[in-house]
Amino acid sequence: MSNYHIKHLEEYYQVYRKSVNHPEAFWEEIAEEHFLWRKKWDKVLTWDFSKPEVQWFEGAKLNITENCIDRHLLTRGDKTALIFEPNNPSEGSQHITYKSLHERVCRFANVLKEKGINKGDRVCIYLPMIPELAVSVLACARIGAIHSVVFAGFSATALATRINDADCKMVITSDGSYRGAKTIDLKGIVDEALENCDCVTTVLVAKRIHTDINMKGGRDHWLQPLLDDAYHDFPPEIMDAEDPLFILYTSGSTGKPKGMVHTTAGYMVYTAYTFKNVFQYTEKDVFWCSADVGWITGHSYILYGPLANGATSVLFEGVPNYPDFSRFWEIVEKHKVSQFYTAPTAIRALAKEGVAYTQKHDLSSLKVLGTVGEPINEEAWHWYDDNIGKNQAPIVDTWFQTENGGIMITPIPYVTPTKPTYATLPFIGIQPCLMDEEGKEIVGNQVSGRLCVKFPWPSIARTIWGDHKRYKETYFTAFENKYFTGDGALRDEVGYYRITGRVDDVIIVSGHNLGTAPIEDAINEHPAVAESAVVGFPHDIKGNALYGYVILKDTGESRDQENVRKEINQIITEQIGPIAKLDKIQFTNGLPKTRSGKIMRRILRKIAHKDTNNLGDISTLLNPEVVQSIIKNAL
Ligand code: PRX
Repeated sequence: MSNYHIKHLEEYYQVYRKSVNHPEAFWEEIAEEHFLWRKKWDKVLTWDFSKPEVQWFEGAKLNITENCIDRHLLTRGDKTALIFEPNNPSEGSQHITYKSLHERVCRFANVLKEKGINKGDRVCIYLPMIPELAVSVLACARIGAIHSVVFAGFSATALATRINDADCKMVITSDGSYRGAKTIDLKGIVDEALENCDCVTTVLVAKRIHTDINMKGGRDHWLQPLLDDAYHDFPPEIMDAEDPLFILYTSGSTGKPKGMVHTTAGYMVYTAYTFKNVFQYTEKDVFWCSADVGWITGHSYILYGPLANGATSVLFEGVPNYPDFSRFWEIVEKHKVSQFYTAPTAIRALAKEGVAYTQKHDLSSLKVLGTVGEPINEEAWHWYDDNIGKNQAPIVDTWFQTENGGIMITPIPYVTPTKPTYATLPFIGIQPCLMDEEGKEIVGNQVSGRLCVKFPWPSIARTIWGDHKRYKETYFTAFENKYFTGDGALRDEVGYYRITGRVDDVIIVSGHNLGTAPIEDAINEHPAVAESAVVGFPHDIKGNALYGYVILKDTGESRDQENVRKEINQIITEQIGPIAKLDKIQFTNGLPKTRSGKIMRRILRKIAHKDTNNLGDISTLLNPEVVQSIIKNAL
């Protein structure tokens, strides 16, 4: 029996047991039968969560682009690898075959080499969702450079922090980007960021919106002429299994963003295997994940997972409401999409607009629907099921994290019976557990606790770039010998998991992970602000929105509070990006603090949730009197 494609529930349990009882034998078999290796491994797994250290397929040699592109050339050379669907539908879509992808990646690889990029160098990619984004990611992987894709909605300051942290030599960007009816001056943002980044010597610029931009002599180069002149073939750099493939930043609850490091072989095996099963992908399907490649979902399920399976994957540049709210469904009909994978926030936003938009289009090609990034509420789940899947396409509520590389808890469609709001069962090879606050495992069903994982899986991040100590402290110290996710979860009577949300100071807004500390740092930069605290509160569309409590400096002058609110959001936009703007800003004279001076966010959270009947014990506060005044003025 091949364990690569699971088709029945019995088979799931059988394969799951094998993957847990004999993980090394199990993953060795998957790796051996489905991938191309230049040299096989000496050892399948070495691990020690106390250090932490994890190595999969140690000693193996490979190149991931050979697996994602070259090996399909003989059998699928003329098959479409990527369908590019532009922001403006009238521009028309592009079908990029595996052959053409190969040529484009090879040309790009030659350009990178010619510009002095070598194996192990870091390259920052700051691009909209255009073919050059996919091609540049794969070109880095082809030459063994480590890509660091930064979502092109981040501000210049956020970009500079990420470029400097990874010490990138090069930035790949475009003259600008389209976002619905708007254009964004991406190159201007890069120029501003690079004023503070000495490490970058070269900037490659793709033409997208054809505007006049500033090109700095010696540093900036138009990409297309370089590609036109480059040779069309490039032999892949042979990499070690554990060579870093990419860095991807995610917010922490404190401090600067964490550059999660993913390595080559384990990441490839796990993303390919999850893609095949979680979406029940078959050869003629068209797969569409609407995430941005700037997030882990895009890395794993627009690019690496689908391409490793020789799939056809849609790359969509635009937004769900342009030219109108039927855009997603128009694309599904146009490309006969078989699997559609999106975020709950998009579903909620589209549901709000009514079903007329969905009814205009033939959605009968859809076989599987997916959601990811945040808990999906029951109403949105049913709307998706009724109006998009017409109760015929199972919904896979997939839980995972940037740190995980690939999907961890999920139904397998047509295999696992689904249950609204539940991510259901662990995927093959994943050993989740729930822990109590004393560090004891909670066994049995109908229980809830902190979600941890007991055993390594192939695509677990190996470290935080440049800060292994922080990696250990963040994920491996709360519970001995376990990976701690930072999420809370419950397990129902049949063992299904439901993710209930973060238990730390990370807030998920529209599916984007935001740490409170960097937002508070930005607010505190306003000259009138003395101190601030940010918490989340429930929001119909975004899932959570941000509520800021702000103490203004006492200068004796009166201030236009509305203006200060605007200025605070302006600073947040500049420092982080528009996604981190506050929905509500309450000015206050004090913040509830413990005797050791820590802000009691639990209380602020309850006030923002309008749940003030039971605030718990506030007598231990340094300043209990501020609580009533905050409640009185709550927004
Ligand atoms: O809280 C969980 C939530 O998103 C967090 C991870 O965010 P990020 O690293 O940006 O990756 C998002 C895409 C993989 C998790 O800690 N999350 C993700 N998927 C789900 C979810 N919460 C509930 N249900 C999900 N399906």
